[in-house]
Formats: sequence, structure tokens, C-alpha cells
Amino acid sequence: MNDANKPVGFEIVGREDFSPATYSLVIRHPLMAKAARPGQFVIVMSHESGERIPLTIADFDREKGTITLVVQAVGKTTKEMQQTCQVGTVLYALVGPMGIPSPLGTARKVVCVGGGLGVAPIFPQARGFKENGAYVIGILGFRSKNLIFWQDKFNSCCDELILCTDDGSAGIKGFVSDGIKLAIASHPDIDEVIAIGPPLMMKACAEVTRPHAIKTMVSLNPIMVDGTGMCGGCRVKLGDEVKFACVDGPDFDGHKVDFADLMMRLRRYAETEKTAAQRWSENCRMKDQIEPEGTLAHTKPLSDALSEMIDLFDPFEQVKGG
Ligand SMILES: Cc1cc2nc3c(=O)[nH]c(=O)nc-3n(C[C@H](O)[C@H](O)[C@H](O)COP(=O)(O)OP(=O)(O)OC[C@H]3O[C@@H](n4cnc5c(N)ncnc54)[C@H](O)[C@@H]3O)c2cc1C
Ligand code: FES
Repeated sequence: MNDANKPVGFEIVGREDFSPATYSLVIRHPLMAKAARPGQFVIVMSHESGERIPLTIADFDREKGTITLVVQAVGKTTKEMQQTCQVGTVLYALVGPMGIPSPLGTARKVVCVGGGLGVAPIFPQARGFKENGAYVIGILGFRSKNLIFWQDKFNSCCDELILCTDDGSAGIKGFVSDGIKLAIASHPDIDEVIAIGPPLMMKACAEVTRPHAIKTMVSLNPIMVDGTGMCGGCRVKLGDEVKFACVDGPDFDGHKVDFADLMMRLRRYAETEKTAAQRWSENCRMKDQIEPEGTLAHTKPLSDALSEMIDLFDPFEQVKGG
């Protein structure tokens, strides 16, 4: 392919599938790899008419000039990306690094907690603390043994690693909050806990550390649209204060976060999201039926036809006035 015909965008140079729903994408972007700091995220558009979605930079390699994203296929866009984002294809747009880098500070002993998909974004923080000279205790939680990923990466940067599974198929049987209790019992001098995962998990972690007055940071994932502090979509409540996760976070003091409000706001577009995913999966089934015969492909390019069919709502419509 000559340069003029090369697709425009950021090349995917690696991919690994951890489970039927979770996959990693390694993307070539030397400038982003150079600028990225633990805790930051990017906004991705996989194709020209695709939705913008925020994804955490789960790893970066300055020498190779790559960043790694770990994605869970939960709805229309992440499922579409699971099919289309293969090695050799490109992401149409990649904006970042965004958000305030996680302060690695002067903590001497830290606990880095990742639950499920949250294991990926906690990795750069665990490595950053280790590089800063801290004693790092990693706590990773999965539903079951077959969902475990990146244990080797954590082994390389953690002084201790506590693995928890809901069903007891690997490590201790229990939640990450049980892992934190174990860590606190054997280390009375923990300076800080950082927890990333589903809101309920982060809330549970904050409740375990509250009586011990251990500083606890959590990474919030409210719905984001522009990612630049303009739309108000990512408002989060901390006590009496309102913050925008995209520009004031995404890391916040877990003891102050109003998790009930966060969870309620995350469910706000559930019906629209369900409709979008249904329309997309019906279109995929149509694509499978028409492609072999080429009937639609004869009348107009398949990509155009599909992008018309998946002509979704404008995300800015949803957040008028914040
Ligand atoms: C700072 C930040 C970092 C994130 N990092 C990761 C990551 O590393 N890996 C990963 O798999 N996911 C990450 N997410 C969540 C990811 O953005 C959503 O899963 C994705 O947007 C879902 O889109 P969808 O069309 O596939 O699903 P939809 O069906 O549209 O939504 C499914 C659920 O995803 C959430 N969601 C939907 N749209 C958005 C949006 N624009 N912004 C935030 N959440 C949304 C909502 O809770 C929704 O109920 C992150 C979110 C934020 C805010
Ligand atoms: S996404 Fe944060 S203000 Fe719009």
C-alpha cells in the first residue's frame, strides 16, 4: 500500500485477548508514550463516525513509543472495537494524555488495589510508586481464576501481591476489601491506599480504611463527553463540593466521594445505551448476511451503508446545560 492509501490514524501494533470480554490494544504513539503519566487517560474514536470514549492509559513504553489500553466490551462502542481493532488497523483519533497524573508523592508504603478491569489502570501507579522507592503491596481482585491477567507485571513491581477471587479458585477467597484488611493487619504503617475498580468496590475499600484514617485515593469513571471541562457531564460530588472528573481528577479522596450519586449518574443513559447496542448488533447480523452475496456492497460501499445505519444520537444532545 502506498502512503496516500494508508488509513489515517494511530496504528494498533499489538493486541491480546484476556477473556471473551476483555482485550488489550498496544498503539504506536511516541509523543503520547513520552508524555503519559500514571493515572491519565485518553479519549478514543475508533472510526470517523464513532463515539468518543475515555480509556485509561494502562501502560506506556517510552522506548518503543507505544501506549497500552485495556478495554472491556460492555456496550456498542467497546463491542464494535473488539471486532474492528486488530493489529495493523488504526484508531481514527486519540486525544490525551488527559486528567491530572496521580500524585506519587512521598508515601513510603502504599497499597495498590485493582478490581476486575481496574487491575489494568492501577498498574502504572504501582510501577510509579516502586520507581519512587516505595514499598508496594498489590491487591488484585477477579471473579475467578480464568479472568486473571497481568499477574506477572504486578509481580515485577510489587514487594507483596495479594490475589483475591470471589470463588476462591486462585489466591484468597474474598473481595479486595478483605485483601486490604489483611494488609492493614500485617502493616500498621501504610501511608496510602489507591483503589481502582467498580464504584461499589472503591466504596467498600474506602470504608475499610476510614476507621484507620489511611489516605485512600480512588479513580472515578463518570460519563465523559468532551473530556476538557466544558460539558459538565462528568460532575462528581465530594462532600459539599462539585468537581469535574476530567479536569479535576480522575483521582479523588475516596473518603469524600458521594458514590451513590456517581452510581446513579452512571445509569442515567441505560435505556439509550441498550438501544444503541441492540441496533449495532442487529446491523452486525445484517452485515454478516449481506456481505457474502455482496448485494448491498454493489449499491454503495459497505462502510457507508453501515455508518448510516448506525447513525446514533449526538452525545452532546444528552448533556445540554450539563
Ligand atoms: C476516566 C475514565 C477512564 C476509563 N477507562 C477505561 C478503561 O481503561 N477500560 C475500559 O474498558 N473502560 C474504561 N472506562 C469506561 C469506558 O469509557 C466505558 O466503558 C465506555 O465508554 C462504554 O461505551 P460503550 O458504547 O461500549 O457502552 P455503553 O453501552 O454506551 O455504556 C456502558 C456503560 O459504560 C459507561 N459509559 C458509557 N459511555 C461513557 C462515557 N462516554 N464515559 C464514561 N463512561 C461511559 C456507563 O456506565 C454505561 O452504563 C473509563 C471511563 C472513564 C471516565
Ligand atoms: S467530560 Fe468533563 S466536563 Fe465534559
